[in-house]
Amino acid sequence: MNRFALSAFAIAVVALPPALFPTSSHAADELKSPIFGVGIPEGYRQWELVGVAHESGLDELRAIVGNPVALKAYRDGVLPFPDGTVLAKLAWKHVQSTEFEPAFVPGAATTVQIMVKDSVRYADTGGWGFGRFIDGTPVDEAQHQTCFGCHAAGVKDHDRVFTRLVR
Ligand code: HEC
Repeated sequence: MNRFALSAFAIAVVALPPALFPTSSHAADELKSPIFGVGIPEGYRQWELVGVAHESGLDELRAIVGNPVALKAYRDGVLPFPDGTVLAKLAWKHVQSTEFEPAFVPGAATTVQIMVKDSVRYADTGGWGFGRFIDGTPVDEAQHQTCFGCHAAGVKDHDRVFTRLVR
């Protein structure tokens, strides 16, 4: 492409209204949770570990990671968590190791769950927006209606966040 063609192309792309790309914006919406509009944050697999958990009902192993804003708040003992805090909980089936019997290890991945702090946008739910995803796709609205109630009832004195920083 010569220089003229390239800049004409760039202008055309910049000038086109987003409505002309219905499939891409529609696809992006589908990846956001109902009610809260929370997506899976980019780069979360590189975030620092906050804690781990095991749940006996679903028999899952979990790792909770946080973005740099979250980790700074944990280390400084800041509550409530500041806007911009994002926590991600990754879960896997809890399976017996085939290589060493006494060990239990992560099996298939089950869910990714996200909490985002934005005290204005999510004022009705303690400043937290919630998202639960299976294979990258958000689960239904009914499941998202349960998030805040359980977190608010369980950990009122820790800004609705269960996980404490592991040392
Ligand atoms: C019945 C109670 C309950 C419900 C409902 C619930 N959670 Fe949680 N959540 C917990 C508990 C307990 C933990 C900490 C232990 C663990 O990780 O399993 C937790 C941890 C988390 C964490 C890590 C931060 C923290 O608070 O420790 C995220 C993120 C999270 N949940 C997201 C969600 C989302 C999104 C929903 C709704 C789709 C949801 N939760 C619904 C009980 C609940």
